Amino acid sequence: MSSNKKNPIGIFDSGIGGLTVVKKIDEYLPHENSIYFGDTARVPYGTKSNSTVIEYAVQDAQFLVNQHVKLLIVACNTVSSVAINSLKEKFDIPIIGMIEPGAKMALEKTKSGRIGVIGTYATINNKAYSNEINRIDSEAKVYEKACPLFVPLAEEGWIDHKATYAAAEEYLQELKELKIDTLILGCTHYPILTKTIQDVIGNDVKLIDSGTAAATLVKKYLLENNYQNDSGKKSSERFFVSDVPTKFIEVAQRFLGREVNDISKVDLEEELKRIMH
Ligand code: DGL
Repeated sequence: MSSNKKNPIGIFDSGIGGLTVVKKIDEYLPHENSIYFGDTARVPYGTKSNSTVIEYAVQDAQFLVNQHVKLLIVACNTVSSVAINSLKEKFDIPIIGMIEPGAKMALEKTKSGRIGVIGTYATINNKAYSNEINRIDSEAKVYEKACPLFVPLAEEGWIDHKATYAAAEEYLQELKELKIDTLILGCTHYPILTKTIQDVIGNDVKLIDSGTAAATLVKKYLLENNYQNDSGKKSSERFFVSDVPTKFIEVAQRFLGREVNDISKVDLEEELKRIMH
């Protein structure tokens, strides 16, 4: 591997949600340096067309690749569903998205082979999880449901709120009737609503946090390739966003469970233009 082991891991998302993945990176890879990019000026991606998501994702990734990241984590499930192949074709660094690890973990946990997936419209319409699960196990039954309102509810901090319960009852009823035993939380924001989702779907259903699945896979990848930061400590962590960071700072505490420092606003288009010349 040509780049330095101390180089940061790059993590990007359509906005704030990817911080739930950073939380898992904190837990599983505490010594890795990191750079996060959140495209807060253009969020949400989950309601946009595939071509727009691919265009944005390539720009987001380019920004991080220019910062010499050694590996790229696509924290956004929407981008992972729609653009992972385009990113892998374009960039010559290891790229790990949410779909493959989440699908694998669900297959490891399910006993009945009946798996539910919830995510944004883009994630669900592209059938990324069901295709990946059935690629590995063609017998598995996968049932998918878009739950778009969970994103603003999580950002609003309505964690244990009657509006969130009402939305969950409405969205999850169908999956309950289909007798799934495993449910993939296929969106960055959904781990914030774990309690409500678990209460509504029932304690017999195992929830899969795609961030946990991805962090586990990244750890394994770094160990197997002898590519972990072996200096023994994290020495840098930077956050970039494409809009003013006020809301990002506010929500970070809830999504990440700690404060974020070293946060800068970047004009992505200007930045990419500058690099091209
Ligand atoms: N980060 C997105 C995801 O995981 C949710 C927010 C959005 O729609 O951009 O799918």
